[in-house]
Amino acid sequence: MIFFSRINRKSTPAAVKKVVFDEMTISSRVEELASEISRDYQGKDPIVAGILQGALVFTRDLVKNLSFPVSPDFIRISRYGRQSRTGEVEIVKDLQEDIQGRHVLLIEDIVDTGLTLNYLVRILLERNPASLAICTLLDRTELRLAEVPIKYVGFNVNDEFLIGYGLDYREYYRDLPFVATMNLEVVEPRTADRRQQTTDNRQ
Ligand code: PRP
Repeated sequence: MIFFSRINRKSTPAAVKKVVFDEMTISSRVEELASEISRDYQGKDPIVAGILQGALVFTRDLVKNLSFPVSPDFIRISRYGRQSRTGEVEIVKDLQEDIQGRHVLLIEDIVDTGLTLNYLVRILLERNPASLAICTLLDRTELRLAEVPIKYVGFNVNDEFLIGYGLDYREYYRDLPFVATMNLEVVEPRTADRRQQTTDNRQ
């Protein structure tokens, strides 16, 4: 008899302090959100648009679970400095689709101050979509500075630094299958060095 066991391709990085939402928890919540969205948008042929980079993984998983066929669109923005209180953003990769007259569902990984989305929503509303709603995996309301009309929330989170499932620390850890708090004291080598280190460890 052959037993198939799940191969753990990557070891958990030392920067992971505590897993907050594991793979199973995320996956079942994504399914619940997808059911809700499927009901609300059935027959409406919405544009489902992920905001890069953070929402790439969440968007992919959400779309897979929707009951209607949809090809996700993506938008990428650049913020004018993290400290900016205006949330002003520049679109560096625009949506492929013309959203005029269409129902748009924007997908985010996390909403903190809300400044980014508040600004982006205003830009997109100028294009006269039939409707525009937001779905975020994580909502950190205690940091909110600007109003954002979030319709679907995966999980509420507190003010801890989170990595994984799209969320990064200096572009690292987006590929972790779970959401975790981060041990900020741990400074890990860059990816290329990590690979080299893993190879060295095998020798
Ligand atoms: C994160 C997140 C949101 C934004 C939320 O993006 O994906 O877009 O911050 O912050 P706010 O509510 O305070 O405006 P980030 O700038 O880290 O880029 P990323 O998506 O490429 O990770």
